Amino acid sequence: MEKLVTTALPYANGPIHLGHLVEHVQADIWVRFQRLIGRQCLFLCGDDAHGSAIMLAAEKSGIQPEQWIETIRQEHYRDFQDFLVDYDLYHTTHSDENKQLSCEIYKTLRDSGLIERKRVTQAYDDQANMFLPDRYVKGTCPKCGSEDQYGDSCEQCGAVYTPDQLLNPKSVLTQTTPIYKDSEHYFFALSKCQDLLEDWVGRGALQPEVEKKLSEWFDHGLKNWDISRDAPYFGIEIPDAPGKYFYVWMDAPIGYIAATKHWANSRGLDEKKMWSHDSKTDIVHFIGKDILYFHGLFWPAILHHAGYKTPDHIYAHGFLTINGKKMSKSRGTYVTARAYLDAFDPDYLRYYFAAKLSPTISDIDLNWTEFASRINAELIGKIINIGSRCTCFIHRYFSGVLSDHLSDEALYQQIISNESTLLQLYDSRDYNQCLRLLLQMADQVNQYLDQVKPWAMVKDESVLDQVGPICTLGVSVFYSLMGFLSPVLPGTFERVQSFLRVEHSNWSDFCRPLLSQQIDVFPRLLERVKLSDASFIDE
Ligand code: 2FM
Ligand code: ZN
Repeated sequence: MEKLVTTALPYANGPIHLGHLVEHVQADIWVRFQRLIGRQCLFLCGDDAHGSAIMLAAEKSGIQPEQWIETIRQEHYRDFQDFLVDYDLYHTTHSDENKQLSCEIYKTLRDSGLIERKRVTQAYDDQANMFLPDRYVKGTCPKCGSEDQYGDSCEQCGAVYTPDQLLNPKSVLTQTTPIYKDSEHYFFALSKCQDLLEDWVGRGALQPEVEKKLSEWFDHGLKNWDISRDAPYFGIEIPDAPGKYFYVWMDAPIGYIAATKHWANSRGLDEKKMWSHDSKTDIVHFIGKDILYFHGLFWPAILHHAGYKTPDHIYAHGFLTINGKKMSKSRGTYVTARAYLDAFDPDYLRYYFAAKLSPTISDIDLNWTEFASRINAELIGKIINIGSRCTCFIHRYFSGVLSDHLSDEALYQQIISNESTLLQLYDSRDYNQCLRLLLQMADQVNQYLDQVKPWAMVKDESVLDQVGPICTLGVSVFYSLMGFLSPVLPGTFERVQSFLRVEHSNWSDFCRPLLSQQIDVFPRLLERVKLSDASFIDE
């Protein structure tokens, strides 16, 4: 396998929303592009199924956590499939493979002296009989006095603190005042990994701005990492420690290897071939910038010390805002994948995200008015229209058969010669530049058509036969553009292939004109966006 590509595993405690989709679409475009140019890619994801939040959510619904996470996993997978995200496997961290690998990896770390034990004092709910994660304690901010703030930070003034500093603290589970209790915790000795990580960070796996951020963390010195949680907890029990579970962030990334194992073993293959120290497979993680600490520090350190390959690339992206605001249920800017799909074609959003995405970690904004104009004026108006107007004449005057030559072979070649730039832009995840160039290519052919005016020529018997090669040029460029766009618009491209009666699956096929072949009438490829179709948009 040349590349193993993953996206961050979504928590099994809520629906997939448009914020998740930025990453899954970004990665899917990249994987589809890699496959198009003939590179083998294994594309994996799954649900992150452990932790207190999931345990408590299942409990509240009165069902077993196993049943809760399986229902959600299936919903998540269906959402991604309906957005045409082409995973080879959508697994779960609550699997036998993950249990086995997490325990094995832990034992290797322990035997290398990288696990330390220390007593930790923590808020405890005496009525619920459990330790409380910071977010399960709420109270008055010690700094600004705002009420009803979480135990880790204040949403009003931004102060950061520990739950014991809150005034009038209450457990969110029972509304009782938490007591403080201590217990033994297990720590991964990250402080011993600084040299190793500084070396890894300098090896080019990270975007420059991410590398800078990680270096700042080095300057502060790395702290050991608490990897255990006390029962009751929904997770994987630590081998030599009854009643202690791996903190969800310990077994979550190991879920990447577990998914590989599930995929490989069910085909009689061995996952270690891809994950061993000397593997030739490129390990590529797509993540959001909020989880850099986990993927840029803990994860490579654990992998290295457990005898695995460290990631070759971590591609981080920024957050999604909607109409300039953070997604939030109360502000009405929270849009689930399903709500979107009930209103619009998935390719619209894929196109819009591509138009906004760059290789940096800048945030991207989804503005619905811009969304409509990108689809209607840009994609449909400039690209899809080339196909519809030219196909129409091929049918009306040439029985639906393309000519055996192009009216201007040099123009076709000149437009298509941009393909090598497109290749580089896709490969470096510079999708917005990629789309910009594709639009320039479309402009060139639109200008040509406006100049030669086939719609006027068809009225003049003496030049009618020249219209065939002109429209064959138009259809050919349209096909090439849609082929180059196929990683972004897989659904639309399938419909294009079907009406043009072609079955190509390689990038190089998009660099040759379509000649002398029968094509079908132009189908309804994509309807124009009507914002009023969506109840979640109020403008
Ligand atoms: O931040 C999150 O949503 C986590 N569930 C991501 C986990 S990624 C990987 F480590 F599993
Ligand atoms: Zn405050």
